[in-house]
Amino acid sequence: ALRATPPSQSNFLTPELAASCIATASGTPLYAYSLPALAEAASACLAFPNAYGLTVRYAMKACPNGSVLKYFLSRGIHIDASSGFEVRRAMEAGFQPEMISLSSQELPGDFADLVKMGIKVNACSVSQLERIGKAFPNTNQKVGIRINPGVGSGGFSSSTTGFSKTNVGGPSSSFGIWHELLTDGTVPSIVETYGLEVERIHTHIGSGSDPAIWQSVATRSLSFCKIWDTVTALNLGGGYKVGRNPGEKTTDLIEIGAPVADAFREFAKENNGRELKLEIEPGTYLVANAGALVATIQDKVSTSDHIFLKMDAGMTDVLRPSLYGAIHPITILPGSGKSSDIGTDTESVVVVGHCCESGDLMTPKPGEPEALEERTLRKAEIGDIAVMDGSGAYCSGMSTKNYNSFPEAPEVLVTAEGEVHLIRKRQRLEQIYENECDVPQGVF
Ligand code: LLP
Repeated sequence: ALRATPPSQSNFLTPELAASCIATASGTPLYAYSLPALAEAASACLAFPNAYGLTVRYAMKACPNGSVLKYFLSRGIHIDASSGFEVRRAMEAGFQPEMISLSSQELPGDFADLVKMGIKVNACSVSQLERIGKAFPNTNQKVGIRINPGVGSGGFSSSTTGFSKTNVGGPSSSFGIWHELLTDGTVPSIVETYGLEVERIHTHIGSGSDPAIWQSVATRSLSFCKIWDTVTALNLGGGYKVGRNPGEKTTDLIEIGAPVADAFREFAKENNGRELKLEIEPGTYLVANAGALVATIQDKVSTSDHIFLKMDAGMTDVLRPSLYGAIHPITILPGSGKSSDIGTDTESVVVVGHCCESGDLMTPKPGEPEALEERTLRKAEIGDIAVMDGSGAYCSGMSTKNYNSFPEAPEVLVTAEGEVHLIRKRQRLEQIYENECDVPQGVF
């Protein structure tokens, strides 16, 4: 049976599973991904209500590991790429070009080659649209147009800890073509000048969990589809929030999708039976709660005010707390050689990362990256394991990487049977500096 929301995967790592991840990855830190959690999230997205067909595109920026990509490919999920490099990475993982759409802040230098291959490009600015037009003049070249519909949602507010930081619409957002440029004729005239064919309208405002917002974004975005009768699909982007911490809500896709499907039906009724296909682009929803960072407590220091736990990971691995003040749950597990019963004593601590950087904070105040906050955790000793849940999205893919020359952490995939497979090796020190070049002798 399909579920509207994936199960909470917090603590999917038992002490035994964590130990076998550590053995497979030859130590910590590492990222572990739960295959059953990926499967549940994929099923929920594929069940998104729709009136006339659905394409689910994985926003691969959330976690671009090839094995994760291949799993979603096996489920019939397509790709949302945000750079030419991501496009190539998806193709390397086996996606056909026709399964990949590109919405990028920067049109790749080789975009014309990508278009010829069959990659679906969404023009995200007027100049991108003109460049596409100039590269394919008067050939009815199909394009998508990413619009900024003028309304904003998503993003985060410090009053909610379960935020997903995501690009918002509205006048303060640089993403997409401002909607008035469609209705005042600017964009239609560029389309006309170059003989382009608009086949897709795209918008991503990170609409969150509120069905009323989804309905209004869908209705508003559908109104832009009327401008061209060549439009066959509307992409409503990603931004489906998940609850990473106890008490936080995960978006009910059935609940937000039903009014969206209604809006598509209404559109068909009012426009001579025009049946538009729906596309969605979840990143966070598909992977966030399927991943955990596994680290070792390296040190424990005290001041007059706080006890600090220092992990052998940090902003180099999970940047979201220090960038956004994002809250991830942390669980302490017994270090190797200890019995799995390490007691029930708790302690109020501040958890920090391993970088020489006071901002490398793992327990910020919600929404305040620079303000530390104590968290009550199981009492830990040096050598114990800290598992940071909710780390599947925008963690391995988005971090400060090699700051302090710490190597990129390996990734493992955990199956329902508890098998652990290495899906990326730990980076070697030489790989960090292999692209550096010496200056000629005499320069200094
Ligand atoms: N589609 C487009 C065009 C996007 O720009 C994004 C995210 C997505 C889909 C996927 O959004 P999601 O479902 O993951 O919310 N680094 C932030 C998230 C930035 C998202 C940027 N765009 C975080 O750590 O929460």
